[in-house]
Amino acid sequence: MTRNVKNILVTGGAGFIGSAFIRFLLSPEANFKGTCVNLDALTYAGNLANLNSVSNDPRYIFKKGDIRNEALVEDLCQEHGVDTLIHFAAESHVDRSILGPQAFIETNILGTFHLLEVIKRNPNIHFHHVSTDEVYGSLGETGYFTETTAYEPNSPYSASKAASDHLVRAYHHTYHLSTCVSNCSNNYGPYHFPEKLIPVMILNCLDRKSLPVYGKGINVRDWLYVDDHAQALYMLLLNGKNGETYNIGGEAEKRNIDLVHEIIRVISDIKGIDSKELESLITYVKDRPGHDLRYAIDCTKIKKEIGWKPTHTFEAGLRKTVLWYMENEEWIRNVQTGAYREWLEVNYAMRS
Ligand SMILES: NC(=O)c1ccc[n+]([C@@H]2O[C@H](COP(=O)([O-])OP(=O)(O)OC[C@H]3O[C@@H](n4cnc5c(N)ncnc54)[C@H](O)[C@@H]3O)[C@@H](O)[C@H]2O)c1
Repeated sequence: MTRNVKNILVTGGAGFIGSAFIRFLLSPEANFKGTCVNLDALTYAGNLANLNSVSNDPRYIFKKGDIRNEALVEDLCQEHGVDTLIHFAAESHVDRSILGPQAFIETNILGTFHLLEVIKRNPNIHFHHVSTDEVYGSLGETGYFTETTAYEPNSPYSASKAASDHLVRAYHHTYHLSTCVSNCSNNYGPYHFPEKLIPVMILNCLDRKSLPVYGKGINVRDWLYVDDHAQALYMLLLNGKNGETYNIGGEAEKRNIDLVHEIIRVISDIKGIDSKELESLITYVKDRPGHDLRYAIDCTKIKKEIGWKPTHTFEAGLRKTVLWYMENEEWIRNVQTGAYREWLEVNYAMRS
């Protein structure tokens, strides 16, 4: 049965994946006719420039605000006749969670709790929770995470996401809310904040800076092109079963060091640089504490039940991503210098 999705509240829509979702939702492909309200606190990770292409779309509304503000969330839901809430807002960077876990507890756990309280009072709204495969902990050299794999989070980030997943599950069972959870592998693509692995490597290659690789570079991650994730999420909003969990993955497992070599190969090819020059920039640095060895996703369920599969091979997605970073220097410069924050303060702080 296809769910009737009219008006959507997106939390965290100014971030990397949330903005990709909104761009997809408002593209002709999604054929979306309702209203999309983006509620985002515009932390360091939120950047409205990610949404320049849709900012004048009459179906799109932005509201600066915090997901922990129940009254605000409830007002937005009522004002815009929201029937679907998709929840991206989070603190999302593992290294930051190791340095300072508190914000992760406050946004990822408490923030999700406050949203669920709003849904409890407005049970006509379907709640989709966007989560990560990191909740499952670490795999050895073989095996895959399935939807029934036990949770074993190892970082403050993954523990906070695991807690929020459990809250969603509990509110579904206890209060019979309409919910769905998706656990996705690492995303990459345009507009990725330049503190994450792939943009760091691309930008450092372009600037001939050192390429820092944790430990021996043998940690394995599965990579999904962000637009494929956006499409999967929209398909789940329409057809995901109430109370279910779906794993989403790119079927592209890479050791970190192999990933760096692939980035070097693509950049050398596009720019006509000798790859040896870029390889000499690789520097092995002290490993991240509690660094999970391997994540790998079995996404058979979403393929079979929903009919989704990744459309980008890793090679195609990486090439698109590298080209995007090469063509969007202004976006990068504004993020690196912090200029996007000043612009936001002038344009949004006064209006919020
Ligand atoms: N990036 C990945 O590879 C990945 C993989 C799987 C799952 N996820 C999950 O997907 C979601 C989005 O990830 P992302 O990479 O786009 O994150 P991001 O850090 O790029 O964006 C997070 C957004 O949430 C907003 N935000 C933070 N705290 C808020 C608050 N209290 N109230 C309102 N808005 C707030 C930020 O301003 C930002 O726009 C997260 O829940 C993350 O756990 C990410």
